Amino acid sequence: MPAIVLVGAQWGDEGKGKATDLLGSRIDAVVKFNGGNNAGHTIVIGTEKYALHLLPSGILTPGVTPIIGNGVVIDLGVLFGEIDALEQRGVDTSKLVVSANAHVITSYNRTLDNVTERFLGKHKIGTTGRGIGPTYADKMSRIGIRVQDLFDESVLRAKVAGALNTKNQLLVKLYNRKAFDVDAVVAELQAYAERLRPMVTDTSLLLEQMLQGGANVVLEAGQATLLDVDFGTYPFVTSSNATAGGACTGSGIPPTRISRVIAVAKAYTTRVGEGPFPTELLDDKGDALRLAGAEFGTTTGRPRRCGWFDAPIARYATRINGVTDFVITKLDVLTGMDEVPVCVAYDVDGVRHDEVPMTQAEFARAVPIYETFPGWTEDISGARTLDDLPANARDYVLALEQMINAPLSAIGVGPGRDAVIAVRALLD
Ligand code: GDP
Ligand code: IMO
Ligand code: MG
Repeated sequence: MPAIVLVGAQWGDEGKGKATDLLGSRIDAVVKFNGGNNAGHTIVIGTEKYALHLLPSGILTPGVTPIIGNGVVIDLGVLFGEIDALEQRGVDTSKLVVSANAHVITSYNRTLDNVTERFLGKHKIGTTGRGIGPTYADKMSRIGIRVQDLFDESVLRAKVAGALNTKNQLLVKLYNRKAFDVDAVVAELQAYAERLRPMVTDTSLLLEQMLQGGANVVLEAGQATLLDVDFGTYPFVTSSNATAGGACTGSGIPPTRISRVIAVAKAYTTRVGEGPFPTELLDDKGDALRLAGAEFGTTTGRPRRCGWFDAPIARYATRINGVTDFVITKLDVLTGMDEVPVCVAYDVDGVRHDEVPMTQAEFARAVPIYETFPGWTEDISGARTLDDLPANARDYVLALEQMINAPLSAIGVGPGRDAVIAVRALLD
């Protein structure tokens, strides 16, 4: 039975949360497989608006088992804060399960995220400051704290003490900050242990059993292809694999189980934080996109950098993720633009590149080569079929489909759950 991967094709905030929500009642489980509360997914259902950070978007669909996979880094305070806030609004969170192998974001990881950013000065990454990078660094350095460690105090204490041995030296002697107290860190983490215990499961085994039983499972990425630690605009990336490969390592579902990979892209491009962005608009057109698209971060509230659609990037996402279906969101935001340019290739030092250049130095110097499409003024938020779209809007999305090298399955025309044109079924 199928597992479906859903990834972002650009620099995040493409509308992945809404796309997962769209898959709806035929889904049995939604797995978050990477990242942590650096993500921010806004989902609009009728007049209700939900902002999720750590919980998988499937939590809003009754009957779905939401799963936090082993590839996620968990801030336990944020987890329980989010659960409580949803419960207060009448959302049932009782089916949530958490991998015993997921890593935990500690207070010293959060501090180190902010301190290292400050020390990077003008070379900073522009992180969300949630402790994501330092927690993944601990994981790879084999000094991380895992969910299962919370249930054995002696193991937890030994691990925290081991990690703080060097970190306290760094914090005090290099960064001029206070040392962390082992007992205080242990107590803070243990305070969550009893509430967490019933949620903790061997999630890889659970998923295998669900798939054997015929379940539909969605693996939902946080962040996006260009923020992936291997394939993104390194070092201006997040610290996990946000691409389809990460769905396997972050969940324990093997590649042979995956039947479809859905990529979500905006009809234009946005980015939060530092790093190259060839089609960025630093003029009033960028301001117009930010205003029309309400492009302010769900997590940090920062204004998102805005620019035109970048076809080589979307094609790159198709290749890296093995995309079988594209969902284009926020087409409605382009309504009213006189014309809509699309980057079709780059000029790097006088040489045309039809694909994303090999090195970051080249990418940083890439100047977009645009093809310009005529705009439209008609309100498209009520369109539910391709034929409902004005000819210029239809020509625009069909041209994008040609450029991204993968079939277009759905088009978003508004934030609401029903504001979508379904071109072909996302589930078999
Ligand atoms: P995610 O991180 O990929 O889940 O995306 P975010 O939730 O951070 O950002 C996407 C934003 O666009 C959210 O506020 C959504 O409600 C909104 N959105 C999603 N699809 C559409 C669409 O088709 N049209 C409009 N106008 N807004 C949309
Ligand atoms: P969703 O899931 C957009 C960006 C940060 C920063 C870089 C590294 O909502 O699409 P980190 O805190 O992860 O170490 O920051 O990655 N970033 C995101 N940008 N959407 C996100 O998530 C992001 N998660 C991280 O702004 O540039
Ligand atoms: Mg987001």
